[in-house]
Amino acid sequence: MRAISRHFLITLSGFALVVTFKYVCVCLRYDGRLFWLYSIHPEGTYLPHELALSVAISRKGVIGHNGGVPWSIPDDLRRFYRISVGKPVIIGFDTWRHMPKPLPRRRTIVLAEADKSIDGAFHAHSQEMALNEAERACQYLVSAEAIVAGGANVYEQFLPQCTKIYMTEILFEGPGDTYFPQLLLDEWRVHDESPRRECAVSGLLYQFKTMYRREK
Ligand SMILES: NC(=O)c1ccc[n+]([C@@H]2O[C@H](COP(=O)([O-])OP(=O)(O)OC[C@H]3O[C@@H](n4cnc5c(N)ncnc54)[C@H](OP(=O)(O)O)[C@@H]3O)[C@@H](O)[C@H]2O)c1
Repeated sequence: MRAISRHFLITLSGFALVVTFKYVCVCLRYDGRLFWLYSIHPEGTYLPHELALSVAISRKGVIGHNGGVPWSIPDDLRRFYRISVGKPVIIGFDTWRHMPKPLPRRRTIVLAEADKSIDGAFHAHSQEMALNEAERACQYLVSAEAIVAGGANVYEQFLPQCTKIYMTEILFEGPGDTYFPQLLLDEWRVHDESPRRECAVSGLLYQFKTMYRREK
């Protein structure tokens, strides 16, 4: 429900039309909730749910250190919340086990071998299972995209299928032991970028970028 709050909602008896600048979605309205039935893209095809990737990365490609993230930038965490709220979020087991609690107000999909125990999130044993659940969750959450949120192992597997990247680029020179996979910049175009900002907590400079994969 939260995911559609920015969109235009037309309710009919028992049904609702969710109209955004990108698509029209027909939903069944029952018990105060919306259940996705059908999406129509302006070009007349089904809504292609987009796979987007979210990452905070140093200029040298560092994304992690000692199982965690080697910086503290509250504004970046707020941006991640804004990007991912109301959407399915795919993460790897190592990222999951270092999180203090499950991500609130998101459908968290954790990739881990079948013998692992995952409480408070959907446990996917394979990439295909994670993608199927992300697609299903996009439909019932009425979300146009699912977010791939790391770590390195998961980025490596899903990057080829991602069409959008929410990046926070950080001028960080400290140590790191986990790196983002190689990004071929000529395959991507920068759609928007924020002015460079300085973090009041860490003193680090950072910049937000949104990138789209170029059409071939
Ligand atoms: N800067 C950022 O934006 C950002 C974001 C997220 C994470 N990070 C950092 O990245 C680091 C963690 O990255 P990582 O590469 O070590 O780990 P990860 O990607 O979080 O998790 C990898 C684990 O997930 C499971 N997994 C992955 N794909 C699977 C598949 N297809 N089927 C079944 N299980 C699968 C495996 O766990 P098992 O085999 O053990 O079950 C694998 O060892 C941490 O330092 C974290 O803080 C940074």
